[in-house]
Amino acid sequence: MILLAQIPVHSRLRRYKEMPETKSLFNRVAGHYDFLNTIFSFGIDKSWRNRLALEICSPKLLLDIATGTGEVAIQFAKKWNGCYAIGIDPSREMLDLAHTKLEKTGVNEKIGLVVGFAESLPFKDGTFDAITTAFGIRNTVDPLTSLKEMNRVLRQGGTAGILEFAVPRNRVFAHLYMSYIRNMFPLFGSFFGKRNEYQYLVDSIPKFPQRERFSKLMEEAAFTVKKPIEFTMGTVIIYIGFKKD
Ligand SMILES: C[S@@+](CC[C@H](N)C(=O)[O-])C[C@H]1O[C@@H](n2cnc3c(N)ncnc32)[C@H](O)[C@@H]1O
Repeated sequence: MILLAQIPVHSRLRRYKEMPETKSLFNRVAGHYDFLNTIFSFGIDKSWRNRLALEICSPKLLLDIATGTGEVAIQFAKKWNGCYAIGIDPSREMLDLAHTKLEKTGVNEKIGLVVGFAESLPFKDGTFDAITTAFGIRNTVDPLTSLKEMNRVLRQGGTAGILEFAVPRNRVFAHLYMSYIRNMFPLFGSFFGKRNEYQYLVDSIPKFPQRERFSKLMEEAAFTVKKPIEFTMGTVIIYIGFKKD
């Protein structure tokens, strides 16, 4: 068994100066996050993360960035025997929920949780076999810096898997889908007094680089990028990249 203390960390944590506002946003929505995710996605959000875990075969040491309540790390720990995962996230409220979930699901010995930002990962170069982030890269202040950090802490040939929302290619469906999420996310959020927070989450989807543009960003961060995998009618995409040798 790997212990968190055995994983090489920078002796002096570099502090990312511009701490993102999203940290406090996610602290505020943490309590209802899993519940609303299931409602908005009609329960298929788990299958998206499951697909991500299938795309990255049996890593020994995985880093899940923007781990939130730990769903992706849990999927890997359950699916791949011998996989030890670290979940990192700046939101302590999210990590507290993750901690409770790990104990409930009985995988707490296979997952460690760390507070931190994607833009400044507190690990030494080449530490991890694989890195994932689900619905997280869009919320970082600087996605390119985050991708470069992912590349830095991956071992040579290691895999990065990024799951993110997208606007569907089909214009008619894109219009219907965007109307659905533009109306439903803030409405459900308002039941918990969090309308603005959910408004931000929806508005950030079309603004974020997608498909070819995001693949280019990954290439800029020194990844060899596979063709993106689209599913649920192009509303969700998995990007896979390998650290160049
Ligand atoms: C939409 S949630 C995704 C959580 C989880 N990955 C999932 O699949 O449900 C986004 C997460 O990104 C985290 N986050 C926000 N800014 C971040 C940053 N700069 N670096 C790393 N994580 C960040 C938030 O705290 C939040 O937990």
